[in-house]
Amino acid sequence: MQSDEFLLDCLKRDITRLEKHDVRPGLPPFFIVPDFGIRMALGYWAPDQDARPHEHNAWTVTAVCHNELEVFTYDREEALAGRFPVKNRYPAPTGKAGYIYDPCVHNPHNPTGSWSLSVHLISPFDGTPDANGTLPIGLLPPSNAPAEPSALAACARARRRQSMYRLALEVLGRMREGETFPLVERIFANGNVGTKRLAREMASLRHGDRLRRSDLLRQDTEISGQSRARWGQQGLRRLVRSRDGRAELVVTESWGERVILRVSSWARPALEVLAREEELLVRDLPGPITDHERISIAAALEEHGFITVNDPLTLA
Ligand SMILES: [Fe+2]
Repeated sequence: MQSDEFLLDCLKRDITRLEKHDVRPGLPPFFIVPDFGIRMALGYWAPDQDARPHEHNAWTVTAVCHNELEVFTYDREEALAGRFPVKNRYPAPTGKAGYIYDPCVHNPHNPTGSWSLSVHLISPFDGTPDANGTLPIGLLPPSNAPAEPSALAACARARRRQSMYRLALEVLGRMREGETFPLVERIFANGNVGTKRLAREMASLRHGDRLRRSDLLRQDTEISGQSRARWGQQGLRRLVRSRDGRAELVVTESWGERVILRVSSWARPALEVLAREEELLVRDLPGPITDHERISIAAALEEHGFITVNDPLTLA
C-alpha cells in the first residue's frame, strides 16, 4: 500500500473496467488471481456513502488508499436477529489496512465530504452460501427476474462513472512515482466536459511538457452554442410542467417520475424542445434566454449524465 506503482497498476486495470461502462454495485473485481481465485477490487466511496451492514464469511483484506473511511462492526448474534447496535468503530485513514479472518458483520462508511478509495483482496469463498444454503448476513440472494431497465438508473451510472474517473485523477495527481500520463489521457478520452477539464488541469500541473505535445488533451471540449446535445439514454420519457411559477423538465418511468431540471417559467420553451427532440444544437434552444443560459442548461444536463455533448464537426 506504500507503493504508488502497485496502486497505479490497480487503477490501470480498474479504469479498463470503467471504459467498458461496467459500473456494477458492490466490488466488481478488476483482477482474479489465477489458480487461487482471489478477487482484487477497488472501492469508490462517495461522501457519506456506506455499504450497509453485511457479513464476510471468509477472509478479506481492505486498505484505504485515498482520503479516509470508518468501519463499524456489529455483534453477529444481534445481526442474525436483524438488530445492528454498533459494537466498535475503527477509523481508517489513508494507508490503514485491516483484515477480517473470522466471520464478521461490518459496515465501512466514508465520513468525509470528499470521495475515498479503497483496495480489497477477497477470498474466493467469501459471499458463498454455507452447507445449509444460507447466505452471509446482508447479502441478498441473486434475483432471477431481470431488473426492469431504467433509463434514469443508467444516467445515474453514467454520472457515477465520471465521479470514479475524477477520484482516479485525484489519486494520480498525488503519486510521486509511476508513469501516470497515459492513464490521464485515457480518462480524458472517456470523460465528460467536467472530467476532461480536471484531467487537463492535472496534466498541466504534473506534465506540462507532455500536455503541450498531446493532441488529445489540447482539444477544446467546452460546451458552446455550436455543440450538439443528444440524450444519452434511449427510452427517457420526458414532459414539461409548471409548478410554483417555475417550469420543470420531468422524466417519467413505470415506478414514478423525477424532476431533472427546474428553471424560471420564461425559459419553458427551451425545456419543451428538450422534451421533444432527441438531438439539437445548444444555440437552437428557443425562448428569451441568453447564450450563456443555453450553455448552462446543457452543462447541467450533461454533468448529471442525461445528455452527451459533441462538437458537430466530430460527428459523421
Ligand atoms: Fe465488507
